[in-house]
Amino acid sequence: MLWLYVILVLYIFYTFTKQKYNYWIKFGVKGPSPLPFVGNFGKVMLQKESVNQCVKDIYKQYSEEKIVGIYRGFQPILLIRDPELIKQILIKDFNFFQDRGISTSRSRISENLFSAEGEKWRILRQKLTPVFTSKRLKDMIPLIENCIENYLNYVEHLVENNIEHELRLLASKYTLQAIVSCAFGLNIDTYSDTQNEFTIMAKRVFSPTTIVKFITILDMIIPGIRRIIKSSNDISDFFLNLVRKVIEERKNKPMLRKDFMDLMIELKEQGNISGKNQYTGTAEIQIDDNLIAAQALVFYAAGFETSSATMSFMLYELALNQNIQDKVYQEIHKITEKYNNKLTYESIKELTYLEMVFEETLRKHSVAGILFRKCKTNYSLPGTKVILQKGTPVIISVSGLQQDPNYFPNPEIFNPDNFLPENKNKRPQYTHMPFGDGPRNCIGMRFAIVQSMMGIAAFLRKFKVIPSTKTRTKLRYDPKAITLTSLDGIWLKIVKRS
Ligand code: HEM
Repeated sequence: MLWLYVILVLYIFYTFTKQKYNYWIKFGVKGPSPLPFVGNFGKVMLQKESVNQCVKDIYKQYSEEKIVGIYRGFQPILLIRDPELIKQILIKDFNFFQDRGISTSRSRISENLFSAEGEKWRILRQKLTPVFTSKRLKDMIPLIENCIENYLNYVEHLVENNIEHELRLLASKYTLQAIVSCAFGLNIDTYSDTQNEFTIMAKRVFSPTTIVKFITILDMIIPGIRRIIKSSNDISDFFLNLVRKVIEERKNKPMLRKDFMDLMIELKEQGNISGKNQYTGTAEIQIDDNLIAAQALVFYAAGFETSSATMSFMLYELALNQNIQDKVYQEIHKITEKYNNKLTYESIKELTYLEMVFEETLRKHSVAGILFRKCKTNYSLPGTKVILQKGTPVIISVSGLQQDPNYFPNPEIFNPDNFLPENKNKRPQYTHMPFGDGPRNCIGMRFAIVQSMMGIAAFLRKFKVIPSTKTRTKLRYDPKAITLTSLDGIWLKIVKRS
């Protein structure tokens, strides 16, 4: 009798799996064969491969297709390869694809700009956009200059004492100090005080515990499970206390800094904010300490890790390509001479070759390699037979596009000339998007560019990087990391220029 039950269970499971994994076949969409339970993300679940690498491999494998059908667990996901369709999703039909559909664990401060949906996101984005206007960025320059001075002094100390230092960690000391100073108006010592709360918190945010890792994997099989699990309180407590402390300190004082915290305090005084939109519906947001702390956390987390990774990848490529480093140095020298030997906000804008090097670094080592969107209503994808069901996730492989030989010849070679205006014009749009694109692109893009370009230019004026015995000629990326991270770190020798 038992064997009959076993056969019945196996049969039910077989028909369930077959029906689920028939989803894309019905629309004639090609894609890799999924495995039961894990879909196409088996290696990701075993932590042998990052999601970025997995999706990039699928992008490469289906070089003839405009779209590819894949499965996360049993959930169908559409990978968009074609730049025209990408434009459709990110720009033209943005109203249907406004949300990312990223599930986060429940906590008092989980309502942040990155994961917010619908009208709530629209209100938050509108209210937070003024933090990064050109005027505000310009006002932040003295704060960034101060952080650069500390950074250069520390590097000088390392060089004089012959101390080796891993480059990503080194850059993160600078970018962490810069974001904490520019967003919260606090001066922290990331150099001698390695036990400062912000550095410890960075480790907590970017090194998830075993249970969080397990939940993340489970969420791939049962999408949304993360939402019903409550995340630990210490990260929430830290940001809530921080926000309360800064608000208290600024109480009854004129708003001089006009930074992130000033803006949030101003909003808090307005109380609740409601909004209505034909696509996003209605929503009311209560601007309280929890909501402010949630935005503080996302600015902090998105703000320093991505920029420090990019800065260290850039120095790595310059160490391996000395001719490019020389050219960058000559340009910095020439432009700063014009500005009385100073690196100003205006002078940075004239460092056009350095900007090309920055863009090429983000092309080759895109720290955030995938864009996520979720379809809001049933949607007929133009030029195809596909009708996306409401809620279907859609993804774009930024690193796949940026390393596609059709758009970037010899993609594995570091070549800043890829960003010469004549070469840029030859490529279709939406093939280089390290900061995403459309109304939901990276809100901190301009801050990231100014912070990284100023930091790198100041560094290269004083120092040169060359490969050391520990430098790898080909980087290996960490399969478990959230953003693109070198598995072995980035090791270079820093030499002081005479
Ligand atoms: C090199 C540095 C950085 C890179 C490569 C990067 C990349 C990205 C990407 C790819 C997205 C998703 C865009 C999309 O879906 O279209 C994003 C979103 C976001 N980034 Fe960045 N980012 C960087 C620095 C920063 C900084 C410095 C901040 C804040 C100070 C920041 C804050 C955010 C936020 C809040 C979002 C969500 C925006 C929204 O949903 O409205 N990022 N970033």
